[in-house]
Amino acid sequence: MIKFDKNNKVFTLDTVKTTYAIGLMDEGVLVHLYWGKKLKNPINAEWKKDFIWRSHSPFDYGDYSTNVLPLEFSAYGGGDSRLPSFSALYDDGSRVSKYRFKGYEIVNGKPEISGLPSTYAEKGDRVQTLIINLFDELKNVDIYLNYSVFEDLDAITRNVKIVNGGNTFKLHTVLSATTDFFGTDDMDIIHLDGAWARERYVTRQRIVKGNQNIKSQIGVSSSYHNPFIAVCDKNTTENSGDAYGFNLVYSGNFTAGAELNPYGTLRAYIGINPNEFEWVLESGKSFETPEAILVYSPEGLSGMSRIFHRLIRTRLARGKWRDKERYALINNWEATYFDFNEDKIVEIAKKAKEIGVDTMVLDDGWFGRRTGETRGLGDWVEMPERLPNGLKGLADRVNALGMRFGLWFEPEMVNPDSELFETHPDWIIHTKGRTPSKIRDQYTLDLSRDEVCEYIVNAVGSVLEKANIEYVKWDMNRQMSEVGSAGLPSENQGEVMHRYMLGLYRVLDTLTKKFPNVLFEACASGGARYDGGILHYMPQVWASDDTDAVERILIQYGTSFVYPYSSMGAHVSACPNHQNKRTTPFEMRCQVAIAGQFGFELDLNKCSGEELEIAKKAVEDYRRLGEIFHKGDLYRLRSPFETQMAVNEFISEDKKKVLVCIYPHSMTTAGHDEYIKLAGLEENANYELNGKIYGGDYLMNKGIYFINDSLYKTRILELNKC
Ligand code: GLA
Repeated sequence: MIKFDKNNKVFTLDTVKTTYAIGLMDEGVLVHLYWGKKLKNPINAEWKKDFIWRSHSPFDYGDYSTNVLPLEFSAYGGGDSRLPSFSALYDDGSRVSKYRFKGYEIVNGKPEISGLPSTYAEKGDRVQTLIINLFDELKNVDIYLNYSVFEDLDAITRNVKIVNGGNTFKLHTVLSATTDFFGTDDMDIIHLDGAWARERYVTRQRIVKGNQNIKSQIGVSSSYHNPFIAVCDKNTTENSGDAYGFNLVYSGNFTAGAELNPYGTLRAYIGINPNEFEWVLESGKSFETPEAILVYSPEGLSGMSRIFHRLIRTRLARGKWRDKERYALINNWEATYFDFNEDKIVEIAKKAKEIGVDTMVLDDGWFGRRTGETRGLGDWVEMPERLPNGLKGLADRVNALGMRFGLWFEPEMVNPDSELFETHPDWIIHTKGRTPSKIRDQYTLDLSRDEVCEYIVNAVGSVLEKANIEYVKWDMNRQMSEVGSAGLPSENQGEVMHRYMLGLYRVLDTLTKKFPNVLFEACASGGARYDGGILHYMPQVWASDDTDAVERILIQYGTSFVYPYSSMGAHVSACPNHQNKRTTPFEMRCQVAIAGQFGFELDLNKCSGEELEIAKKAVEDYRRLGEIFHKGDLYRLRSPFETQMAVNEFISEDKKKVLVCIYPHSMTTAGHDEYIKLAGLEENANYELNGKIYGGDYLMNKGIYFINDSLYKTRILELNKC
């Protein structure tokens, strides 16, 4: 687990398969020594000699070479030319910090991060935390670097706490993790970029000298970039080679990237975006950063993903729904948009019930003046024209069908045309003197203010108490602009976006604890807030508004780099697809959606008999196989970004069942046949596939024969270990 070797001055953080090591230099500076496969032998004192030329180089600024050493933590002002882990503006106008080692502590378990979502340890888990205390003597400020080691899950989490014992000052940069790698001229960076309806596409590029950065500055983790990067060897593939993943458990502005300096040291970093952040840290007060999850796998990118999946699914997500089988649901959005009433919803539910769907989710349009997109957000009371018997009347009728009832909210928003805005025009995010921009005709409520958070808790809470609502789709459909708060003095305006997140997390914490039986699903114009922060409170996210099966293959593939299939809301919708007008076979739509949290986004009354049969079988298959997709081990075998198809293999927890999802998204005219090599099987075991027996070694070294002979003909193969 965690050890400090006093003689050699080395901290080692061991998991079952990995080691992360930090060296303490005589000057009290922490250097990053090692991260990789588990070391069997201790690192001896020789490590210090390795750094001699670096620490006495001509570029020496002060008493050590901050510019060239692989630092574990770098405060601005000591000559390091790379992005710092920390920077501040002190009351005397200076920006220079100098932190030196003061002490350390190793504790069992994992302390909570106050007000922020984070991973946690459960009783019996082998989890320890190393807290390293650094100190700036001149400014009387303590910094605590926290490292929690999840031994059996092979993951490390990091965050930073600053305690100000000196005069009030302004924090500018406080990253959650910076990790410096050595000798790294040949590495790649991978990130997930996108836009609305094209979320989390995999981008891989060579790391060149300089800073390669991704970020969000619009108040939401966003569909543009996910708060995740991986750095890996240029030869790393899905199933072999070193892969290092960094994921931020945060839903707001972030920065992440890799900076390669002229001396070949690579700094990977992740944390709150310093460009949109300032925090007045009063004397005697403390500040904690969000948590970063760090994962190393020698088993390639799929290996990295499997570690993320297990940690996020079992020790970041929480609550009753974490481990439970969830629902096959139907949502009326694409079936009706705003054109519905109680009877219409019941008709949709009835048909869905016939094929085994067990939850009816009523989407946008049930409240206030919400006749269309431009009105009503903020007023969470039923609209009598659509729901003459209120939510209770509808929920009771849905329950009487033997189905659960779920409801859509967009609690963080308000339309100018609403009672809420007319009563509280200053409750929106805005900057004095500037016209606030409308996006989708709405403003963002100012969750940095307690009274706004309280309003949301009460408004949503009282609706949930009114009727038997067992599922909530929590939407959020705009990014922030003209950021400012009427609730804060001018010197604190730089805090608004982080305070918003703290407010949001307080609201989510309160509501999810008050309504523990409700399954919450997050949504943000589809998947624009798909991050670990949200997944702490809500175990699933509507992955994208794009329900086209072809594009979903790509979106879900990219999403699986970090997030488990158990977290991906995935529905079958009508064709031609409403987003891109493409027509795909009904079976393909079912087979692509089934691996996620499965459901329908159409009116099944309009489907043919044949389509209904396929849908019914899909619901049955989902019940039978869902656990393997959600809790099994994922091996990605073909990338849809590089080939004509995605191939995803899932191995059940007990290793007895293997599912191979083959998703061709295009086809060359001549067709294409090949062997698809499986991974992660037992070499000496036999596996049955369609009545034939194959050896595990054969399947991994030769593979399954597959011919892509018909456009969009997807398959889900089931193999059973004999
Ligand atoms: C967003 C969501 C959709 C739907 C609409 C309703 O776009 O992503 O799924 O709920 O809002 O307005």
